[in-house]
Amino acid sequence: MRRRLIVGNWKMHKTASEAAAFVQRLSELVPPINSLEVVLAPPFTALHAVAQSPASRSFALAAQNLHWEDQGAFTGEVSAPMLKDLGCRYVILGHSERRQMFGDRDEGINRKVRAALRHGLDPILCVGETLADRESGRTQTVITDQLQRGLDGLSKEDLRRVTIAYEPVWAIGTGHPASRAHAEGANTMLRTTLESGWGTEAGEQVRILYGGSVTPENASEFLASPQIDGALVGGACLDPHSFATILTLAQSFAR
Ligand code: PGA
Repeated sequence: MRRRLIVGNWKMHKTASEAAAFVQRLSELVPPINSLEVVLAPPFTALHAVAQSPASRSFALAAQNLHWEDQGAFTGEVSAPMLKDLGCRYVILGHSERRQMFGDRDEGINRKVRAALRHGLDPILCVGETLADRESGRTQTVITDQLQRGLDGLSKEDLRRVTIAYEPVWAIGTGHPASRAHAEGANTMLRTTLESGWGTEAGEQVRILYGGSVTPENASEFLASPQIDGALVGGACLDPHSFATILTLAQSFAR
């Protein structure tokens, strides 16, 4: 059974000191977490503070991006070995904000996925269609293309360590989440693509999350679905109370 996963994507929020205080508060608000996996993805500058906090023991750490080279003359970039050394277990790759604002393309995202795997980081690959894609009936083509290109060349062994986050661009940060039926439809297409590429056994082990305006008010709707293995939460993960509420709800749907 795929273990449920909730990821809090902090984006460009919180200094290192704010991050330490947040983790402390969050750990006071949530009951012991044993039935699901919780991942915090602070900005690079706060990773160390979160990793060092005793309050972060029940949470795994993720970075929000990496560069595919191990080291070199790449001003402003951060590599997989650097993140691994800081205590990261996961890395979010191909987020739509990176695709839209920073020029991330499928080929580069694929190199990042492979670099993560090579250095023992588990990639969380984000895929999702824009409103224009959706309105022109291209959702399936767009998300299955992003999936196949992002995971190109991976073995079955590699695939076991991958998580997919389906995040329709029109639902991110808008307060207008996808309907449960839309998210289920997309997740089913993604799983079918995984199974036809890597075989049923490998494909069915991959967790496929939903992300896009998940809040304490709507989280249960997504978490109750057999096709949705968890959530990638942006805005609602920044407040310890609202994220704690989502985690408490998620525990009640744990598998
Ligand atoms: P949101 O962001 O929850 O604020 O919509 C989700 C994401 O971008 O990962």
